[in-house]
Amino acid sequence: MRKISFKLGLLFFVFVLGIETVLFASLYVTLVNARIHEEFEQLLARGNNHRDVLEKSYHLSTLEHVVMMESEAETDVVITDAKGNILYFSDRILPFAKKLIPHTDVRHIPHGGMVVQNNWKKQAYIATASPIRMDGKTKGYVYMFQRTASIQNMISKLKHHFLVVGIVSVFLTIMTIFFLSRVITIPLIRMKQATEKLSKGDFSVRLQVKGEDELAQLGKAIQTLATDLEYLKKERNEFLASISHELRTPLTYVKGYADIARRPNIAEEERANYLSIIYEEAEHMQKLVKDLFELAKMDQHSFHIEKQPTLLCLFLKKIYEKMAPAFQTKQMALIYRCEENVTVHIDRQRFEQVMMNLLDNALKYSHQGSTVSIDGRMEKKNVMIMISDEGIGIPEADLPHIFERFYRVDKSRSRTGGGTGLGLAIAKEIVEAHGGSIHAISQFGKGTSMIITLPRSE
Ligand SMILES: Nc1ncnc2c1ncn2[C@@H]1O[C@H](COP(=O)(O)OP(=O)(O)O)[C@@H](O)[C@H]1O
Ligand SMILES: [Mg+2]
Repeated sequence: MRKISFKLGLLFFVFVLGIETVLFASLYVTLVNARIHEEFEQLLARGNNHRDVLEKSYHLSTLEHVVMMESEAETDVVITDAKGNILYFSDRILPFAKKLIPHTDVRHIPHGGMVVQNNWKKQAYIATASPIRMDGKTKGYVYMFQRTASIQNMISKLKHHFLVVGIVSVFLTIMTIFFLSRVITIPLIRMKQATEKLSKGDFSVRLQVKGEDELAQLGKAIQTLATDLEYLKKERNEFLASISHELRTPLTYVKGYADIARRPNIAEEERANYLSIIYEEAEHMQKLVKDLFELAKMDQHSFHIEKQPTLLCLFLKKIYEKMAPAFQTKQMALIYRCEENVTVHIDRQRFEQVMMNLLDNALKYSHQGSTVSIDGRMEKKNVMIMISDEGIGIPEADLPHIFERFYRVDKSRSRTGGGTGLGLAIAKEIVEAHGGSIHAISQFGKGTSMIITLPRSE
């Protein structure tokens, strides 16, 4: 996994090195050219200076003075006549001047003078020439010479300097890149290790995430995933435990009563009684399995709701008509109120299941002679469906849990009514799949209201 940091580092390095090379090279070339140009300019200016003095007074004393000045200085001078014969010169320079001057085409030299020998790399001297003009006639030339050794020396110093700075900056670049690529890749490596752990089923992943950048967000996402998975695993285990627990009771009954019922010397009446208990328990298990299957489908996200535009009041009325006989049987009243005829988008079949579950509870957990009502109305941007009863109510302590799977306030009461403890959990899943929510208001001993809120649009 060091690979990514190496790749990244190499890429950075190649780019930065390329940029550095181009910058250093151009800086070097510019600097060298500027310095050399300066040397030529200085030499030319010095020659022109001598020339100006000579133009003012072309006397022996002046000539000697010029020559003397140059023999002291770094530079050298040669003065020729108009034809190029050497008249005066400062020491050292004669051999080189004798080689150069006969090959110099003096006709094109302007009054401002010009460089006549510019090859500072190969020759021992660079040279300029400035014509001496008096009364419109060229009287002679002032040649100026400078050793190239000093220039070469300067250039080599510059080169050395650049080399040192270059090496230092490459070193710094490497350090920076090494550090940077680690900063970037270390969290990536940690996340990779974390996801590997996750895939092996170890959800105890803890990533330390700092900052708000994309990497931090990725880290947080992985952390959330780990926590979710851990929770899901725990929940699944608990769920499986409760399923086996739920199945154990009816199976014990079935087994026990079947054992008695198969005894030969038992009264026919008794046998019928036991068989009917067995039948009831089997029925209960069947319902349980059906509900579980329902929930499993929702969990897998494989269940999708098909929303159809539905007139709310018509929908509620149909349910009312379907359920009213069951309430009559228990000598209870079911009333239905719906005024505004709004259209809601719901999966009718699934939503009918929700309503049935809620009404079934209202029926089951209410006393004879009480009234249950179905209300449909608009509230702001939401559609509210409320089912209220005047039944036994739910104790405050249980209220937050009733939508949990298998949660029942009174197990035996729920069981005798054919309940599995899954009705509200299923209802909640369906309502939430519609983008809505469901909650309960209850007063223990007085009654319960189940309220579904659905977004109106869509
Ligand atoms: N209208 C109600 N009045 C009183 N208690 C209720 C009502 N609806 C639900 N409950 C409580 O919530 C529990 C969970 O409901 P539900 O999921 O439908 O399971 P079940 O009806 O199978 O017991 C019930 O066992 C009951 O204790
Ligand atoms: Mg129920």
